[in-house]
Amino acid sequence: MDDKLKAIEQEFQQAISNADSLDTIENIRIRFLGRKEGLVTNIFKQLGTVSPEQKPLYGQKINHLKDLVTQEIDNKAKQIEGQIAKGVSQKASKGFDITLPAFKQTIAKAHPLTLVRDEICSLFIEMGFNIVEGPEIETEYYNFEALNIPLEHPSRESFDTFYLDKKHLLRSHTSPVQIRYMENNQPPIQIVVPGKVYRPDATDATHSFMFHQLEGLLIDKNITLAHLKGVLSVFAKKLFGPKTKTRFRPHFFPFTEPSAEMDVSCIICGGKGCRVCKYNGWIEILGSGMVHPKVLKAGNIDSKKYSGFAFGMGIERIAMLKYGIDDIRLFYENDLRFVKQFS
Ligand code: DAH
Repeated sequence: MDDKLKAIEQEFQQAISNADSLDTIENIRIRFLGRKEGLVTNIFKQLGTVSPEQKPLYGQKINHLKDLVTQEIDNKAKQIEGQIAKGVSQKASKGFDITLPAFKQTIAKAHPLTLVRDEICSLFIEMGFNIVEGPEIETEYYNFEALNIPLEHPSRESFDTFYLDKKHLLRSHTSPVQIRYMENNQPPIQIVVPGKVYRPDATDATHSFMFHQLEGLLIDKNITLAHLKGVLSVFAKKLFGPKTKTRFRPHFFPFTEPSAEMDVSCIICGGKGCRVCKYNGWIEILGSGMVHPKVLKAGNIDSKKYSGFAFGMGIERIAMLKYGIDDIRLFYENDLRFVKQFS
């Protein structure tokens, strides 16, 4: 019996001193203390073979061995856990290798809409415009009435609107900021207003219930349609390249008179005709016009003394053209594989 105990202890001491990982320690624990086949466990079962007088003595010896094995296993496990925590032991932890290169930190990139908005804003800043913002929650007065869109006006339908309650709504365009700014500032006025707008449209590849617009307003003495055409043509060339041509088509907006939509020569095919321009060589990118005298009046500006022009464009639409993106929903899904491709 004594020999057996000695042999077990020797084997144990050797094994534990060579142990260098938590896995090895677990195997040692099973080999010596395992419930079915553990060497220490089994030796208890052999107590029956010693004489009754010697039983207490060997009982004690085996218990002693068991305590020693348990204690040393615990100690060694703690020691290795400590090493893992310090990152000292390569082998100790499963699959941990301190010689591997560190993970690359990914640096955040700006969202494509942010990039395009900022680019458009800086082009206008270069031309002397200031950036202004306004509230997304508006009243009927600012969103419609003050912009010469009275209650029964059929054009209200084209600015379909989310109502929050009887008085408040989510602005359906950035034009209300024109009024808010004029109320507090006399000409010369030269601002652009980027921001979110909301319309209850069914979502598809080109529609979203929320999107972004950029509004422009320039008011001073003797401002004419020529200024409007000049500023917006320069803008188009700066944004899409010096070869970009522009054309202005008569249109109707209640807040401008006369009104026009501006087209640019197709930035994909250069005007020859392709799928993007629907084979006519031109792409509409903004609405514009000379500020209606009623709108100037609503903004407390004397229309006999001052005149001006305004314009509004969709930022998503421009970003889609610029980057060749064919589905507006990609902007809002925040799939990093998409978002990371820009800048
Ligand atoms: N507010 C118009 C829209 O949402 C865009 C627009 C057209 C703005 C002509 C203007 C403008 O300032 O002059 O579609």
